[in-house]
Amino acid sequence: MKKKLLALALVGAMVATMLTGCGSASGSGAKKVGIAMPTKSLERWNRDGSYLEEQFKGKGYEVQLTFSDNNINQQVKDIEGLIADEVDLLVIAAIDGESLTQVLADAKEANIPVISYDRLIMNTDAVSYYVSFDNYTVGKLQGEFVRDALDLDNAAGPFNIEFTAGDPADNNAGFFFNGAYDVLRPYIESGKLVVPSGQTEFAQVATESWNTANAMERFQNILGSYYSDGTQLDVALCSNDSTALGVTQAIATDYAGSNAVIITGQDGDEANLANIVDGKQTMTVYKAVANEAVATLDLGVALLSGEKPNADLISKSGWSFDCAYDTSSYDNNTGIIPSYLLVPTVVTKDNIQKELVDTGYYTMENGYPKATN
Ligand code: BGC
Repeated sequence: MKKKLLALALVGAMVATMLTGCGSASGSGAKKVGIAMPTKSLERWNRDGSYLEEQFKGKGYEVQLTFSDNNINQQVKDIEGLIADEVDLLVIAAIDGESLTQVLADAKEANIPVISYDRLIMNTDAVSYYVSFDNYTVGKLQGEFVRDALDLDNAAGPFNIEFTAGDPADNNAGFFFNGAYDVLRPYIESGKLVVPSGQTEFAQVATESWNTANAMERFQNILGSYYSDGTQLDVALCSNDSTALGVTQAIATDYAGSNAVIITGQDGDEANLANIVDGKQTMTVYKAVANEAVATLDLGVALLSGEKPNADLISKSGWSFDCAYDTSSYDNNTGIIPSYLLVPTVVTKDNIQKELVDTGYYTMENGYPKATN
């Protein structure tokens, strides 16, 4: 009789293990999460990588984290490696949103769920969810900042503006550019804003690899060709901080004027925050990647438990930050990818302390913000 009870208890325990998924998130059977980041050379991905690693490890998962040097083939190899190592979940920030179709077909074949992190991965039905910030809003905030700083609705103008956008291989880049351009378009059409270079198409203003040196060279050419006669530049609208850094350098060395040019950015990279403190860059759109990592963790945990998360994940998780569940904006050419979109914030010299330091994301060292991770 006792033996029978013991056998029953054992069967019960086995069934319970099977129901909760094989292996647990702790101990020797820990599930593995593969995290593929694009590069260490663009500051934010270092922060994303370490926040994500910290979050998943904190819940007892094993983590394999790769950075692929902004090299597309390297990232494909890195993801192949993660699949070969039998990770249970993939979190990927793609270098080129269109180059992962084949390797992600392998992930799907191996039943590994894929979270497209920050950048949407295109042309694959292997992506289960997308976690990012509201990318269109990032650009919109930059455009609105310029509109308000120049008081475009009341000032006589005209003002001169040049655009610098991101990497065409990054699906986000078009959203950022369009978000900004849509706000400024009416003023360009009415002539209150003028683009002396005439470069107003995304393809003309894009920056390969979001590279600082590429942005700087293009801007030096623009300044040489359209501003060397003393034409005043009022605004350099840059989609992010790595490009803003190059544009700021070009202005420092090659711009003849002495006015303070309004320069926008995105991310809160340390070099750019220093420029904001020093008055060389005007604003950045900050995205708290620590929160993006938290959202990714809770989504990942739900996927690993076999759930099909939806808007409920937001209320269930009790996050301390705002997030929208979006099922209409992001189509990766195989259909809409359900998205969790966090909310970006404008940071200027006036609110660095409140938004970045008081919140704990940065500390002030010798007057300049330093990221805390
Ligand atoms: C990210 C930005 C970043 C850019 C370059 C984009 O996909 O959303 O935050 O500035 O890549 O790293």
